[in-house]
Amino acid sequence: MKNTIIAGAGHYVPENVVKNSDLQLIMETSDEWIQERTGIQERRWVASDSDDSTSSMGTKAARNAIADAGLEPNDIDFIIFATLSPDYYFPGPGVMVQEQLGIDTVGALDIRNQCSGFIYGLSVADQFIKTGQYKNILLIGSELHSGGLDKTTRGRGVSVIFGDGAGAVVLQASDEAGKGVLTTKLHSEGKHAKELALLGPSTAHWVDAIIEENNPEDLSYYPYMNGNFVFKHAVTRFQEVIYEALASAGKDSSDIDLLIPHQANLRISQYVQAKMGLAPEKVFNNIMKYGNTTAASIPIALSEAKAEGRLKKGDLLCLAAFGSGFTWGSALVQF
Ligand code: UT7
Repeated sequence: MKNTIIAGAGHYVPENVVKNSDLQLIMETSDEWIQERTGIQERRWVASDSDDSTSSMGTKAARNAIADAGLEPNDIDFIIFATLSPDYYFPGPGVMVQEQLGIDTVGALDIRNQCSGFIYGLSVADQFIKTGQYKNILLIGSELHSGGLDKTTRGRGVSVIFGDGAGAVVLQASDEAGKGVLTTKLHSEGKHAKELALLGPSTAHWVDAIIEENNPEDLSYYPYMNGNFVFKHAVTRFQEVIYEALASAGKDSSDIDLLIPHQANLRISQYVQAKMGLAPEKVFNNIMKYGNTTAASIPIALSEAKAEGRLKKGDLLCLAAFGSGFTWGSALVQF
């Protein structure tokens, strides 16, 4: 059976930097509050005069990942795109990447697993590669949150957290034993679906009804998050699913060379790191610069960690995510 290695990684973030102090000008918040609760100092928000979109940012990240793998776009034989903020309701952005990269008519799969989308995509790609169906899979996580946030004091509990950006990896079949993706673990708990969600407009709450009701109290077209509730579940599930992956691969937490957690909140990462007894340098965080970029956060961090030389041959990389659904998951990758 083949193994799945990460042959290349790349990312793209919009140029427009939005600092906490910029947010203070449009809502009642403070740099102190945001940094103390989340660790975030700034995030990227696509500028109103920019033509960046979820798919085009994904394509830019993909180009960087393909180049990093030493490949050409047409070496890709399958595309997986994870996002909660697609360009359109349908079709999904996977096909747009196929078009924008000028790749032949390969399959394109869109993943709807929010913050865990990259881990879910990695797991799917790993099965395709292990069975020999595909050789080079492009996996992208991209989000454009900024246009859909409530940027007033009313929405500050959510809007200060989220940022825009994209990351991508090329996953490749390898014959080298003991290398690549060792295991992936996926979970969900749909009873908490509405604790972190954007419920309308949708087939459950059609645009016509929203317009007809004309109810100023109806904020269903903005993302809703029960922050405390999500936080409590996240810190437990992160640890649980990391230990589950370690156990199934016959590894221990002391074997982890680098943990890249989904960048939900620096306090969540630090809590997990402390509880698991990991040294701070073994946990990669960049939420300070980008905020929470949902499905893009792990591949952006992976791309930065790789470029900084933080992933050396022989290293054990652990990825973990938790978010809306609830969905969560983990992966262990041997470099
Ligand atoms: O990526 C998907 C997964 N997402 C997560 O894992 C996020 C998990 N949750 C969190 O990270 C945290 O719950 C938040 C950072 C979202 C919020 O932090 P918190 O410590 O749970 O704050 P809170 O919602 O309990 O709000 C505390 C206070 C409230 O004021 P009162 O009622 O105590 O007077 C809020 O109105 O802080 C207020 N507040 C703010 N103040 C200034 C909420 N947002 C802001 C803000 N600036 N941006």
